[in-house]
Amino acid sequence: MPALIFCSRTDDPDEWREAFHQAAPELDFRVWPDVGDPADVEVALVWDPLGEELLRFPHLKLIASLGAGVDHLVGSTKLPDGVPMTRIVDQDLTQGMVEYVLLSVLSMHRQVPAYAEQQRRRVWQLLDQPRAWQRRVGILGLGVLGTACAKALVGIGFDVAGWRRRKKTVDGVTGFAGEGQLEPFLSRSDILVCLLPLTSDTEGLLDSKAFAALPKGASFVNAARGAIVVERDLVAALESSQISHAVLDVFTEEPLPSANPLWHLPNVTITPHVASITSAASGAVLVAENLSRVRKGEAPLYRVDPVKGY
Ligand code: NDP
Ligand code: OXD
Repeated sequence: MPALIFCSRTDDPDEWREAFHQAAPELDFRVWPDVGDPADVEVALVWDPLGEELLRFPHLKLIASLGAGVDHLVGSTKLPDGVPMTRIVDQDLTQGMVEYVLLSVLSMHRQVPAYAEQQRRRVWQLLDQPRAWQRRVGILGLGVLGTACAKALVGIGFDVAGWRRRKKTVDGVTGFAGEGQLEPFLSRSDILVCLLPLTSDTEGLLDSKAFAALPKGASFVNAARGAIVVERDLVAALESSQISHAVLDVFTEEPLPSANPLWHLPNVTITPHVASITSAASGAVLVAENLSRVRKGEAPLYRVDPVKGY
């Protein structure tokens, strides 16, 4: 019997089992580490890094990331040769990220943290309020999620720029590309939003030099991966008010340890990696579609290039 192996300690296996029961009833849904006969396993649906474990399945046809990111697979798992790897691209996931980024950018644009601080002191004081077109938002990563967020921000009237690897335009968004254009991009980002994948090129990209390139008092949103940021440099930038406020959804170590200084900084908003979450129902439909494609010898949707890392 063809089987799927589900490997995630953070996602609910019962919800996914039910979703696959609808989307691919022929698949036996197995939850790691109860693999059963490894020869049955055709698809691995993975969120946890697995080391060499994927090499155990001789008939594996598809490795599907349970999320949009694949750093848990590319970075720490030894992959069997020739088995395609895919990731989640989904309307609801994109919509969730657009909501998170709009909420964060609007909150900092309209100075919600500063008014909350005034409220704690019972201070009634109007702050200068720039218009949206006067606020320069910079998005690191103009892929599926970054492009959708950029378009939504342009729709509200912000002055939006994006930075990516290759030069490619998005209507209404000022484009920057490659390492050489990172600094000019950062220097025009009053609100910086990170939506890059974590790869060997982006790990530690946002360090003290990058934060110093931002306008003094810029705001920062990280909804991508914690390790893109050098956390101690971020803490220093927040303590010196080089960054006035940060909204952080992702961290180098998750759950964020209670001793981490980010918990204690007044100018940080923390959410527990919830910016956008893959829905089991639509995720199962996509994985089932991809399994059916690879069984027919066709290319799966949203294939990842393990060399590029995203
Ligand atoms: P995509 O692969 O569609 O887009 C990635 C973007 O990053 C592309 O624009 C790419 O450039 C750019 N990029 C990659 N490497 C570099 C580099 N070295 N220099 C400059 N630009 C680079 O990814 P998604 O938009 O779907 O997702 C982005 C990330 O968001 C995911 O990898 C994941 O980590 C995170 N995420 C977080 C969630 C959360 O809940 N916090 C939920 C979902 C995703 P180019 O266009 O030129 O290729
Ligand atoms: C993802 C995530 O990559 O949830 O989808 O972070």
